[in-house]
Amino acid sequence: MPNTSRFPDAAGYYGDFGGNHWPAHLAPALHELAVAYEELRASPDFRRELDAVRSGLQGRPTPVHHLRNTSDQLGGAAIYVKREDLNHTGAHKINHCVGFALLARRMGKRKLIAETGAGQHGVALATAAACFGLECEVHIGAVDLAKVDVNVRLMRLLGAQVVAVTAGQSTLKEASDSAFDAYSEQHDHALYAIGSAIGPHPFPMIVRDFQSVVGQEARTQFRAVTGGALPDHVVACIAGGSNALGVYSGFLGDPQVSLHAVEPLGTGARPGQHAASLTFGRPGILHGARSVVLQDDDGAPAPVTSIASGLAYPGVGPEVAMLRASGRLSVSTVPDGEAVATFLRIARSEGIIPALESAHALAFALRLAAQRPPTERILVNLSGRGDKDVEFVLADQAGGGGAVPAVSAGAQAGVTQRTATSQRL
Ligand SMILES: Cc1ncc(COP(=O)(O)O)c(C=O)c1O
Repeated sequence: MPNTSRFPDAAGYYGDFGGNHWPAHLAPALHELAVAYEELRASPDFRRELDAVRSGLQGRPTPVHHLRNTSDQLGGAAIYVKREDLNHTGAHKINHCVGFALLARRMGKRKLIAETGAGQHGVALATAAACFGLECEVHIGAVDLAKVDVNVRLMRLLGAQVVAVTAGQSTLKEASDSAFDAYSEQHDHALYAIGSAIGPHPFPMIVRDFQSVVGQEARTQFRAVTGGALPDHVVACIAGGSNALGVYSGFLGDPQVSLHAVEPLGTGARPGQHAASLTFGRPGILHGARSVVLQDDDGAPAPVTSIASGLAYPGVGPEVAMLRASGRLSVSTVPDGEAVATFLRIARSEGIIPALESAHALAFALRLAAQRPPTERILVNLSGRGDKDVEFVLADQAGGGGAVPAVSAGAQAGVTQRTATSQRL
């Protein structure tokens, strides 16, 4: 794995953020993981195996593509997309899922555990587990279970045990609480294949390293399609930061390239209406790491809202928090309505249906393109495809107001129910 950053330090910190704020009895499990990862990343056999899976199973490299119609309509900067939606299973998440599967095998673990919001990470993990002959357990909030019904069916078809979590808002934060609990109970035979660059050290580093393939490819491809230029702007949506850190990794060393993070403004700027952690959050501890967290007056993680289930998380990963604090990263917000309008616009003018998560990044890129001259170029990480969102968006357009559909019998069958305690680790 390439070292794309001099962070984290030996204690797992990215400046003021990161570290290991987990209960002490889990320290040996995290140490075991860190040691196994250091061994694995140095192994040429592992590199060969990872490359083979990436091309054979995943379909990498994914291309960089010019959104010519949209760019021409706007008349400003040119917009390019890194097509992570073309990964097998439809999103960037599989980039680190296959890495965790190889790691689990090397560590002698027989099971992968994770949380999922939009279901993209769950499907990617179930796929990697099937490919490497591992068991898989995916925790999902009961509200998201209904919303991304199709992904729940896929996970089950691929052999994963799906655990529906009913607690708090019953979305991504509670699914993460539950998956952390499950890992605490099962770490002797299971590995937590965390869904984003969050959690205690070494999880954020491992996820970032496995996702760095996106930025490394994008840099070479961008130069090839533009005759040697670098983008002026690189844009990604942010929940924990896995797709963002992936694409940024190719350009962190180029100070002339502006890096942009796009957060969900949901239905408004009041507490509980959005999930814009970098914009409205403050330093705190969430899921075992010190980072920037949306908190209520008592310091508990605040409720969040976003039309994109994968963005509805009340924090960011520690490396993203550091990039923001250092001034390297600009942060903007996009509300639900603008994300849906962009979802529809890109579908109709480009023939690409983006995930609602990715539609946030695209919406900001459209705004930016309209303000910048045609000589500038914007690269957007199109982190996933929107098949999972089609039913929801069509209901929204038909006047259903984007109401979460009832869970279908097909998605519910065989799903384990779990009432988690919404705890902060
Ligand atoms: C397609 C897609 N993009 C982006 C995200 C946000 O996660 P992250 O910030 O880790 O990239 C998700 C999360 O589920 C997702 O499914």
